[in-house]
This record gives sequence, C-alpha cells and structure tokens, in this order.
Amino acid sequence: MKANHPKMIFNLTTLIRPHLHNLKPYSSARDEFKGQAEVYLDANENPLGSVGDGQFNRYPDPLQAKLKEEISKIKECVPSQIFLGNGSDEPIDLLIRIFCNPGTDNILQLPPTYGMYQVSADTNGVAVINVPLSEEFQLVKEQVFKATTAHTKIIFICSPNNPTGNIIKKEDILEIVKTAPGLVVIDEAYIDFSTEKSFITELKNFPNLIVLQTFSKAWGLAGIRLGMAFASEEIISLMNKIKFPYNISILTQQVALRALLKVVQKEKMVSKILKEKEWLIEHLIDAKYVVKVYPSDANFLLVKTTKGKLIYDKLVEKSIIVRDRSKVQLCDDCLRITVGTEGENLALMRAWEELNL
Ligand SMILES: Cc1ncc(COP(=O)(O)O)c(C=O)c1O
Repeated sequence: MKANHPKMIFNLTTLIRPHLHNLKPYSSARDEFKGQAEVYLDANENPLGSVGDGQFNRYPDPLQAKLKEEISKIKECVPSQIFLGNGSDEPIDLLIRIFCNPGTDNILQLPPTYGMYQVSADTNGVAVINVPLSEEFQLVKEQVFKATTAHTKIIFICSPNNPTGNIIKKEDILEIVKTAPGLVVIDEAYIDFSTEKSFITELKNFPNLIVLQTFSKAWGLAGIRLGMAFASEEIISLMNKIKFPYNISILTQQVALRALLKVVQKEKMVSKILKEKEWLIEHLIDAKYVVKVYPSDANFLLVKTTKGKLIYDKLVEKSIIVRDRSKVQLCDDCLRITVGTEGENLALMRAWEELNL
C-alpha cells in the first residue's frame, strides 16, 4: 500500500513494534538505587579494585547523566533529548529494532550512502527501499514520495552524505520530514565540517525527527566509540528502554567529558582539516587521471577518476590507503579520500604524480 503524502498525523505509539509496548526493561543495580552510599553490595562488583591501571571496578552510569548534561550545553537541546550509543552505529541499529517489524516493515535510504543502514536492516530482517540520489547527489523528493509505503518506518538521510561528501538541501529534507509516514533520521556524522546548521534546532517542530552525530570525526575520538542521537524525550526514553544496560564504558565517559572542556581545540582541528582539504582539492583537480573532485562539506573528498580500482591498487602498493568506491552506484571509478595531515596529503599527491597507468 502506498502512503498518501499530504501531511501525515504522527503517532509514536502506533509506530513501535507491538511486542515492545509492554516490555519490562532490565533493571540494573544502578537503576534501582541512584543516590550516594557508603557501601555498595548491590552489583556483584569486585570490591578490591581493578587489575591493571585505574579504578574501573564499578559499573558506569547507565544513562550517562553528567555527560549528557555537558553535551546539552553545546547542542541546543536538553539532556533528556540525548541518547548515547557505542558509536552512532548503535542508535541506527536500535531504531530499526524498535520500530521495524521484520518481514513487514521497511526502511528507505538514498544510495550511494553510508552502508550501515542496509547492514542493520539486513541483520534485522527488514526490507530496504532504495531511492537513488540524483546525478548531483541530491534527494529526489518525488521519487521518495513515490517509493514510500505505509510500512516505511524510517527514512535515513545522510547529510553531509557519505561517500559523496555533499549536504542535502535543507528544504528537501524538511519536506520529507513533514510528509513521512514514520521517522526520519538525519545522519550528521560530518556536520562539524560543514557551514550548514544542524537539524537539532528543528526537533521542536517535528516529533518524528531524529538527528545522529558522533565523536568519531571532528572530535578525533573514533577509538572511544561514542555516538549521539537527538530526538523527542519520548523517542529517547524508548531507546533507553531497549539498549543494553551499561552501553557506554566509564573510560569512554571520562574521555568524552574531558574532550568537552576543549571545544576550542576541536574547532582548531576542524579549521586545519578544512585548510588541508582546500589544498588537496587544488592539487587533485589538476592531477592526471582525475575527472572531477566533487564539492565536499565533510572531511573527505569523492574523486572521479579515469581508472578507479587501478589507482587504488597502485596507491596500496605505495602504502597509501584510500577508499575504493568505484563499484558503488553513481560513483563509477570514484575514490573516497579522507583529508590527512599536511605530510600525508603531500605523500598522497607525490604518489599520485608517480602513477603510470
Ligand atoms: C555517515 C556516517 N554515519 C555514521 C558513521 C558511524 O560513526 P560511529 O563511529 O559513530 O559509529 C559513519 C562512519 O564512518 C558515517 O560515515
């Protein structure tokens, strides 16, 4: 059945998988008692301390209250609108598990795009509707409307998009959010590199909107695995109900809290990366075998070449690894190149000049 697109009435209760309505979440020791006490004998922890360095014998705060409070100060939302996950891959998977009935429901994505929407849908037995981006890598509204069904629970829009690097036009995204029969997830993993504003400020207008961001890119913290989802309190509490009890480790919470004291350092790194990106664009545009360097709002460039895979292989031989996207829809012969340090970018361009294909 096709969905009718004039404004849909949003009702979260009808979107949730029915068996989750009465789910009793796991109640951890730290959920049961939240105050401060002298003696903790409630969680079967080791009272003697930790083997190795540091003090990690106690379980972490399951809802990461302090960390969410600090994040809320820089994200124009309140702590109860924040979910923290093991990377932003965790909320992608969690949302599919909460809302999509295997065998019945579907998600919609706009290829070429980030691969985990497909993988999470596949692992959960959920169908994927693909609506390719245009030649300019923009969303084709009419095609999205046409392809959406009444069972489309989540539409994933990645902006800036991976692997193409561009921002999807705001007015187009808003039209999808306004008319979708279910939820719309805007994956903003690369938003810190863009001059466009985050959709977090739109959360107050759209109860079906979810925004994903991550500490893996601009913050330089891919190794601690910390992703963020921003949404209505209702959606966030559902996610908290279904997640694993202690999904964010003490180590991750500590490192992120320290990083949040250094927003200026993050911004300096972003500026440096953007400067390096300009340098790379200038040099790649004129380089041999390059057909086109696509505009990028991210920390990587999609580069159309005449000999994608061959260039990839030759660079590997020179110990330089880029991402081969040459077999990806709309990306024939394209390589995705992350902006590196000054030295790394120089090494790439030197190796490129030496290519003889
Ligand atoms: C668009 C997009 N979303 C999400 C992620 C996953 O990020 P995380 O490291 O937070 O799981 C990536 C990682 O490359 C990405 O490109």
